[in-house]
Amino acid sequence: MKSHEIKKGIYWVGGIDWDVRNFHGYSTPQGTTYNAYLIVDEKVVLIDTVKKELFDKMLHRVSEFVDPSKIDMIISNHAEMDHSGGIAQMLEHAPNAKVYASKQGEKALMKHFDNSFPVEVVKTGDELSIGKRTLKFISTPLLHWPDSMATYCPEEKILFSNDAFGQHWASAERYDYELSWGVLREAAAKYYANIILPYCRQAEKAVTSVSELEFDMICPSHGLIWKDHVKDILAEYDKWAHQKSENKAVIIYDTMWGSTDKLAFMLQRGLEDEDVKVSLRNLRFNHISDLMTEILETRMIILGSPVLNNCLLPTMGAFLTYLKGLKPKGKIGFAMGSYGWNDKIVQEINDIMSELNWEVPYDLINVKYVPDGAELDHAYETGRKLGCLMNDSEKD
Ligand code: FEO
Repeated sequence: MKSHEIKKGIYWVGGIDWDVRNFHGYSTPQGTTYNAYLIVDEKVVLIDTVKKELFDKMLHRVSEFVDPSKIDMIISNHAEMDHSGGIAQMLEHAPNAKVYASKQGEKALMKHFDNSFPVEVVKTGDELSIGKRTLKFISTPLLHWPDSMATYCPEEKILFSNDAFGQHWASAERYDYELSWGVLREAAAKYYANIILPYCRQAEKAVTSVSELEFDMICPSHGLIWKDHVKDILAEYDKWAHQKSENKAVIIYDTMWGSTDKLAFMLQRGLEDEDVKVSLRNLRFNHISDLMTEILETRMIILGSPVLNNCLLPTMGAFLTYLKGLKPKGKIGFAMGSYGWNDKIVQEINDIMSELNWEVPYDLINVKYVPDGAELDHAYETGRKLGCLMNDSEKD
């Protein structure tokens, strides 16, 4: 894999994390990249760094284009350690470099690096002239940390967007046109669902503010560079930020002795008989971060669990914790499950759906031990009612 000159004098110098399979709870079967960018102008600028374990590789790539000691500026768009982890080591090689970050970024870097280097604070509207080019800063707070910002180079029409518009995708390819749009869109959707989703309002604001800029390339800090699909990914972000979902259903559940599985199947049959597309996802075989990707664009979410030791099954407990943090909105929810002697526990699923402000139109189904014929019929009929409800809402 050669380092890439993405435009004349601007280089991708990041690190490829081929082996990471779990990124703070998010499954990354494809690995990821930490993208850093080098601009060689009258000033030499490094935009973001990499996770500290990949620092030597970044240094090697930088050295292909410039003596690292010539770096004048390091822009830290975001202090999370996958992007700032290499700053302190970089400063050992570039002792004259100044570090730039947002006000919150300064605070975060001070804490992460024990005040070991000074940080110049920049904010929206600030500009740095680096020779033939200018760097402008756009604060994007809570996208997805308070310190997050983007850097824009108007002369080159490039937006260095940091985490926004990223994908966890390690590959030999660097540009969107080298992969199919469908594959890349799915990776970007997973990234949005697991990282950006709680901050949809901020995502909407960011899409609005960057839409006023003229750019033909988005260089995120993870994954491939957007070149051919800049408009497409902006449109997807606009849709995701408004939490527009499709009229389909997903049943997410676990089962001990098959009772919750039987209920899931009857709900599925009822929904199918109302021509609703429905998928069944057993928590034991599906990673919660993949389920969140499905939830992002799915209107109806049915959750089911049996009771174990007076609690929900741990798989459902973990999933609900993750779901509460990511706060998907605008869903129709339904809870179901089975129990032996504590019939209060499945209600916890309902309560979380209500906390999330989901529409919960029908009473949950909670079956003692094993569903009998009448209970299975009720689950089927409930599936049909849920299907009718969703079909009716489509006509409204
Ligand atoms: Fe990719 Fe928030 O760090």
